[in-house]
Amino acid sequence: MKIAVIGTGYVGLVQGTCLADSGNDVVCVDKLEEKIAGLLRGEIPIYEPGLAELVHRNAKDGRLKFTTDLAEGIADAELIFIAVGTPQGDDGGANLSGVWAVGEQLAKHLSDRDHPKTIVIKSTVPVGTNAELARRMSLLTDVPFHVASNPEFLKEGAAIDDFSKPDRVVVGVRSPEVAEKLHELYAPFLRTDRPFLVMSPESAEMTKYVANCMLAVKISFINEMANLCESYKADINDVRRGIGHDQRIGFHFLFPGVGYGGSCFPKDVRAMIHMARSKDMTSRMMEAVDEVNESQKAVLPRKITEHFGGLEGLKGKTIALWGLAFKPKTDDIREAPALVLIDAMLAAGATVRCHDPEAMPNVREIYGDRVTFCDRPYGCLEQADALAIVTEWNEFRNPDFEIMRRLLRQPVVFDGRNLYDPERMTELGFTYSGIGCS
Ligand code: UDX
Repeated sequence: MKIAVIGTGYVGLVQGTCLADSGNDVVCVDKLEEKIAGLLRGEIPIYEPGLAELVHRNAKDGRLKFTTDLAEGIADAELIFIAVGTPQGDDGGANLSGVWAVGEQLAKHLSDRDHPKTIVIKSTVPVGTNAELARRMSLLTDVPFHVASNPEFLKEGAAIDDFSKPDRVVVGVRSPEVAEKLHELYAPFLRTDRPFLVMSPESAEMTKYVANCMLAVKISFINEMANLCESYKADINDVRRGIGHDQRIGFHFLFPGVGYGGSCFPKDVRAMIHMARSKDMTSRMMEAVDEVNESQKAVLPRKITEHFGGLEGLKGKTIALWGLAFKPKTDDIREAPALVLIDAMLAAGATVRCHDPEAMPNVREIYGDRVTFCDRPYGCLEQADALAIVTEWNEFRNPDFEIMRRLLRQPVVFDGRNLYDPERMTELGFTYSGIGCS
């Protein structure tokens, strides 16, 4: 199939590359000249395991092209995916100016009356956006076209795998032919037991938000329970096992931590709050989820401050940080809890040394030399008065505790991801504090 993908951000680049890899002819379009020039030189703007190899191979084989010229990019395409950003606006709702701008340009360049193109919104957009896009474009062109919704459920760090083996594909369409075309496109990726779900564009748009909100609910719920466990000297790790065996509850996505970050959950939870308000309703659940998450990001800073006897005691101390990205296997630091911790430590007059396998360049852009960046996890511990673990990269899971103890000025570990066994840490001579266990 001939496909155009507009927007070479995270979603668009993965979508375009994976579709090219399954034999389609794909043109990725982006208005940012620098980005396209980089991609043409084989430079991948984000870190995502496996993506660079796939881009290089498919570009070399001629199935994956890059351009800044939208008209040229969509000329032959029967399917056009819109994958531009929909950042959080000032009012908490999604900012759709990117989607409308692309719609306007598409309307200008549509010309084939006999073969209507299908425009598929991949970006996460509030309910009603497909209908509104169709309305806006119809005012600008009388060439027929279709619109469809096809929400994205990829996880950063596992995007290629998620794309190739989706749990389900959801499409929101108004006509069976469009559903058929999209089914044909995704059939190679759907294992026999995985459904292709066809619904209205409104339901598809809602599905994306409900999925992310549900996942955010789980995280804020377990974080709140973890904090309660800690106050009552119960261990959330045991409690988690105790509830997870109930099949109605399960084990997935119930790991307590430092709060969720990233480009999706914070933004989508707030967009849901905004969508409720727009209908004169209140999403009390999602307001609470957002609030709990914000306060969870403050748990590690609070514990560290208390350990050193308050802000005065923290002044002049050195805190080592393992992990900066909002989760492992990505360099993404959007809404990352590590940034809240760094801000708090610097504000208290502490020195921060940090290590992350991928995210250090992005953090350096914010803090410059106000923070010390260390190439190695152990080097980061030298002369530090405590270690805080913020992201559960695999390399932090099984360290040499003897070396850690020797390097740290004081053997104090604040573990924001519950990577270690509290009893063992105490036996080894550490002052150890996890989330919901100690
Ligand atoms: C998420 C959704 O999973 C994905 O389906 C959607 O398309 C985009 O948003 P992503 O943001 O890449 O994906 O990351 P995810 O792995 O879902 O983790 C999100 C955040 O939740 C991270 O900060 C992570 O640390 C946190 N988390 C996750 C927990 O704190 N506990 C958990 O049990 C799971």
